[in-house]
Amino acid sequence: MHASILPPAYRRDAAAHPPLDSPDYGSTRLRHPLRAPVPLTQTLTELTGPLLGAERVGPLDHDLTRQHDGEPLGERIIVHGRVLEEDGRPVPDTLLEVWQCNSGGRYRHDGDRHPAPLDPNFSGVGRCLTGADGAFRFVTIRPGAYPWGNHHNAWRPAHIHFSLFGRAFTQRLVTQMYFPGDPLFGQDPIFNSVRDPLARERLVAAFDLAETQPEWALAYRWDIVLRGREATPREEDGA
Ligand SMILES: [Fe+2]
Repeated sequence: MHASILPPAYRRDAAAHPPLDSPDYGSTRLRHPLRAPVPLTQTLTELTGPLLGAERVGPLDHDLTRQHDGEPLGERIIVHGRVLEEDGRPVPDTLLEVWQCNSGGRYRHDGDRHPAPLDPNFSGVGRCLTGADGAFRFVTIRPGAYPWGNHHNAWRPAHIHFSLFGRAFTQRLVTQMYFPGDPLFGQDPIFNSVRDPLARERLVAAFDLAETQPEWALAYRWDIVLRGREATPREEDGA
């Protein structure tokens, strides 16, 4: 293949992204790869293959508060931002998926045994496509903190999981968004597996008064930058 049509390669930035084996984050000991990764070069096959298109995303898929007959309990919030390349170019038509626990800190998942109530009106999953300007917007409930047994009295700071598909399935990125000023940051090995303090800050959304809707919802802004010095730290494959 001629070099000019090779798709861009995403290089791992060891300072900004968490190591696959993070000893303080116990389960990475069991599940991090022990052998060097085998690079799968992207080709035009991956780039031109089928992706989930706009027709798969329903008009309410971005609104996690309207997936059931009633409204979920908790603090309604708007989470919005843009997906950007390192030079500020927007990344349009990218599928974003989110998942999170409910306001009491419980996931709707068999593996979650945290003795907090499930909310019959909250599934905790949503998705949307970025617009032409790379923008996305979700309406949801502020997630609660939850204990996770990694160490004595371990609690996760409130967070929303994000998955992004770029222009091909092979470009999937996974990361987490946090809320400003969370008192649990200091003791969380997952948040702190990102060693660069400036990179950790890029995982934290900003309170956005301008986008807050009076009498209805607070708003947070979080831009996702795919690479470069301002890149949003992300979990690598197998992490
Ligand atoms: Fe989580």
